[in-house]
Amino acid sequence: MHRIQVVILSTLVQAGLLTLVPPSVAADSGAQQHYAEWAIHNNGITAPLDGLTGDPERGRQLVIDRRKGNCLACHRMPIEGEDFQGNLGPPLAGVATRLSGAGIRLRIVDQRQVNPGTVMPGYYRDPARFHRVPEKFSGKTYFTAQEVEDVVAYLNTLKQEAGNEK
Ligand code: HEC
Repeated sequence: MHRIQVVILSTLVQAGLLTLVPPSVAADSGAQQHYAEWAIHNNGITAPLDGLTGDPERGRQLVIDRRKGNCLACHRMPIEGEDFQGNLGPPLAGVATRLSGAGIRLRIVDQRQVNPGTVMPGYYRDPARFHRVPEKFSGKTYFTAQEVEDVVAYLNTLKQEAGNEK
């Protein structure tokens, strides 16, 4: 292929006008999961995804689960008995005093909206717009809408800074 064709092709892919996923595959996987639209207001997502209510205890399990949230790979959290907590991201103890629930929701849904260069994965980005993901995530978000709300509910309980326990 000529260089100019390669440039045009990659421009189309970047613009989302051309997908490298065969249409049949995209249609099938897109149908597997319902995707709830979200919108940003004042640096946050005010409305719970799909109007769902989160459960903090389930959220706590999700952030620990190395095959699900895997948040501890990058963040320290006030969770006893969990060794090997990472420090790529800021510690999340006291996060609920720094951020509103809406701000926390936006960071879990798509931290890139806050910082385009972040290494934090977007746990609820529109799957129709992102094709270059491992096959098992094709057409899906990393978290379901319910899981996002569960994790938001858990983080909303983290009101104490580390080393400042009651
Ligand atoms: C690959 C590393 C990585 C993973 C995995 C990760 N994060 Fe992050 N996170 C970061 C980094 C780095 C930041 C700092 C902000 C930035 O990069 O824009 C951040 C920022 C945040 C913030 C904002 C904190 C603040 O004080 O402003 C929250 C909340 C957060 N992450 C929650 C989570 C949760 C919950 C999970 C798991 C569901 C998670 N993160 C998974 C790297 C990660």
